[in-house]
Amino acid sequence: ALERTFSIIKPDATRRNITGKVLSYIEAAGLRVVAQKRLHLTKEQAEGFYAVHKERPFFNDLVAFMISGPVVVQVLEGENAVATYREVMGATNPANAAEGTIRKDLAESIEANSVHGSDAPETAAQEIAYFFKDEEIVG
Ligand code: CMP
Repeated sequence: ALERTFSIIKPDATRRNITGKVLSYIEAAGLRVVAQKRLHLTKEQAEGFYAVHKERPFFNDLVAFMISGPVVVQVLEGENAVATYREVMGATNPANAAEGTIRKDLAESIEANSVHGSDAPETAAQEIAYFFKDEEIVG
């Protein structure tokens, strides 16, 4: 079914000026950008977004990394968008990511892994609402 997912192009990708390269993988997979903005997250925004990871040992480093430079937040639309984008991204750790995925080809490390994508349709709806108003999404 036609679905939406939420994506973040992370600071390691904006720093290296490869957001267009990342987008080429997204579009090649048949996903469409229906909303997009460039933001420099505040500490509060990053902590709130990743609240589910609050107790994890990597939480503080993750937040520091996510506010270390601008990000591009996106809403992607397509058939089975959540699963499709997870496939295109590849495994969280680029060392384990399959050939041809964004993380295998472009990511620097498990932390600087270039992209975030929602893990389920319910999370996608929450994550989209965290950054976008309905009228900012143009399908
Ligand atoms: P993301 O999909 O954005 O969700 C949480 C992020 O934490 C994850 O991608 C990784 O970039 C980051 N992270 C850093 N260290 C780890 C780790 N040891 N295990 C899982 N995620 C990690």
